[in-house]
Amino acid sequence: MQSLRFLFLGDVIGKPGRELAQKWIPKLKKEHKIDGVILNGENSSNRGKGITPGIVKAFKECGVNVVTSGNHIFYKKDIYSTLNERDDIIRPANYPSDCPGKGFTIFELNGSKVAIINVQGLIFMQQHLDNPIKTVESLLTFLKSKAKIIFIDFHAEATSEKKLLATFFDGQVSGVFGTHTHVQTADERILPGGTAFISDLGSCGAVNSVIGDKYDIILRQFMTQMPAKFEVETTGPMEIRGVIVEVDTKSGKAIKIERISVTDDEIQYQLQDEGNKK
Ligand SMILES: [Fe+2]
Ligand SMILES: [Fe+2]
Repeated sequence: MQSLRFLFLGDVIGKPGRELAQKWIPKLKKEHKIDGVILNGENSSNRGKGITPGIVKAFKECGVNVVTSGNHIFYKKDIYSTLNERDDIIRPANYPSDCPGKGFTIFELNGSKVAIINVQGLIFMQQHLDNPIKTVESLLTFLKSKAKIIFIDFHAEATSEKKLLATFFDGQVSGVFGTHTHVQTADERILPGGTAFISDLGSCGAVNSVIGDKYDIILRQFMTQMPAKFEVETTGPMEIRGVIVEVDTKSGKAIKIERISVTDDEIQYQLQDEGNKK
């Protein structure tokens, strides 16, 4: 049986997240014999909102095959043309078709075609998007004939919605991985039809933070309800969270899913002086 091994990393947050990706992706690739890497880059700019063309390039250089995203993808305008031009960065497919970019991509990996779909949830998020299940259903009508291995990054808030979509597509795709909450869940498993699933991959960023941002600013905003500019936390230990999934290339079914949860106590020292300069 021939198989491919994939590393999926949850939302990469700001400069700490980028440094983590640069340090850990080559390491994890080697250690776990990874063939393909997909990460969610919607928070990877210095402010933690959006992504720039330079960051996409840096991710590619450290071994990333596809960058997925979510509700923060359109924060930085200079990414719009990149979203239109490149096939290795995608945005949720259920946004209006007038938005820049596309919601899926196909790439070749060791002789197999791999499709990645990005879609966003509706519960506790923007309501005026197309139904995510309907969107994936229509994408699958043509993607199924183009790629045996298909993954979905479901960028959503509610675990119930993520479980619902994953169960609906069980057996039709190789994996469904939740992003957006930045908190890794412990429910990774292979569903009865052969689809690997986890409610949320978690994030790559600061451990001592509120989902990647500085605690005191968020607390002040919460207590006063005054507007505040959130800042990425750049000190303290850092975490890198995601899953490794192995897929049978012939059937497209998942064979194995394993959580990756590394805490890095060293990388903070390189970051302390950098802060949120840009
Ligand atoms: Fe995020
Ligand atoms: Fe998000």
